[in-house]
Amino acid sequence: MKFSTRSAAVERLRTEAIWLPVTGGKQLGRSGEALDKASGGRISAALASGDLPAKAGSTLLVRLDGSIRRALLVSFGDSAEVSEKHWTEAVRAAFRAAANIAADEVVSTLHEVAVSGRSFEWQLRTQVVCGRETAYRFEQMKSKREPQTARPKRVTLLVERTGAARAENEVLQAQALANGVDLARDLGNLPGNVCTPSYLADAARKLGREFAMKVEVLTERQMQALKMGALLAVARGSEQPPRLIVVHYQGASSRQAPVVLVGKGITFDTGGISLKPAAEMDEMKYDMCGAASVLGTLRAVAEMKLKINVVGVIAASENMPSGRATKPGDIVTSMSGQTIEVLNTDAEGRLVLCDALTYAKRFRPRTVVDIATLTGACVIALGHHHSGLFTREDALAAELTEAGRDAGDSCWRLPLDDAYQEQLKSPFADVANIGGRPAGSVTAACFLSRFAEGYDWAHLDIAGTAWKSGANKGASGRPVPLLTRFLVTRAEG
Ligand code: BES
Ligand code: MN
Ligand code: ZN
Repeated sequence: MKFSTRSAAVERLRTEAIWLPVTGGKQLGRSGEALDKASGGRISAALASGDLPAKAGSTLLVRLDGSIRRALLVSFGDSAEVSEKHWTEAVRAAFRAAANIAADEVVSTLHEVAVSGRSFEWQLRTQVVCGRETAYRFEQMKSKREPQTARPKRVTLLVERTGAARAENEVLQAQALANGVDLARDLGNLPGNVCTPSYLADAARKLGREFAMKVEVLTERQMQALKMGALLAVARGSEQPPRLIVVHYQGASSRQAPVVLVGKGITFDTGGISLKPAAEMDEMKYDMCGAASVLGTLRAVAEMKLKINVVGVIAASENMPSGRATKPGDIVTSMSGQTIEVLNTDAEGRLVLCDALTYAKRFRPRTVVDIATLTGACVIALGHHHSGLFTREDALAAELTEAGRDAGDSCWRLPLDDAYQEQLKSPFADVANIGGRPAGSVTAACFLSRFAEGYDWAHLDIAGTAWKSGANKGASGRPVPLLTRFLVTRAEG
């Protein structure tokens, strides 16, 4: 699905279909009014028939016989003021309706209604992102592709001449974001027997070649030399060697401190010796979605050519049981020198991340954000709407929260105070890798905080948001929109 912008009077358009917004049950936008006049009142007559319910997301197709073949009337609800929620519902509905109409190209004027508290640029962006989200298919692993082609193939956003250049730029940036989201979704959806740590490393190298980014891949030997005892302890039980993947995007002066994104890349989490139950274990192929979001964000940022420096660090490993695997009670020494008692081998995400967080220090970062499908407890706390956000820095919390809200990819802050550190006490080592059932996602974040020293740090627990289960099972690409928005704002500021 390709998006572009165009400025022309609606009377002069030639297109298979046009999308017209309707508010308050009957109010057309600027283009709708003009087209209604030009078509001898065909559109207002359709509205008067009452066939378009006022509910946001209702649609009505009207056939025309001029150079515009059809109009899809899209309802934005019965109040004149359109809320963000109603806007998104209606835009999604327009794409769903368009998928069943035999038109390859459409012209959208949906942004002719105002959305409360949101800019015109935001309306253009969300149309692109919603459209690409509905068009996404994962068919790489099918022997035969589904014959149906996704419609519409081309979407033209009709804009006024003034500000047309800005609008065009906005649409290009939004497509870059959608490309990043798609990459994260593809990597997430790949099965564990294909998407191994080495596969992730190859995907990073490919991305690096495409966008001229430096990529380093550390092998097990190099991790041993760095004394990454925690990461290596997770990889011990696996036949697949672990990888530490580093991607450098340089969009600003090399003197400018980078933002480092650290991703959990467990390409399959069996739980290890603390084996998980069989039900739904297949979903643990998604345990590398943090890593996928790092690559997806770097793809978006690189295509946007943002004036900022970003380093992606991915700790990639499988978590498997075997005769060599780490056992409950084993004590390992992390790169930071802190010793860890591994009471549960299923709490492996924090073990690979702690060494990656220590490694991140060498980039002298301004800010480090780690992204991880870290705890089932986070799904219990927040469900599937918000990612969990943990940080000691109020300003950083505000930045990430606002970026998420703006991008329709929200996060919600949870506590991270020292009161919870107590739960991680070990009689034998500096720290235990689990803190018991109460506040499981908070104690996981507390564990990480002990290694995130020397920079501003935030942790995103995406266990509930990175993929959908059930009939529509699949990776969501979250939190690529949040992270990209965060970096766009940083690059501008
Ligand atoms: N990858 C899982 C977390 C997870 C579980 C995410 C289910 C999404 C759905 C993580 O490695 C894990 O197993 N965490 C344990 C931690 C526990 C042993 C302290 C959990 O959440 O049960
Ligand atoms: Mn686990
Ligand atoms: Zn895991």
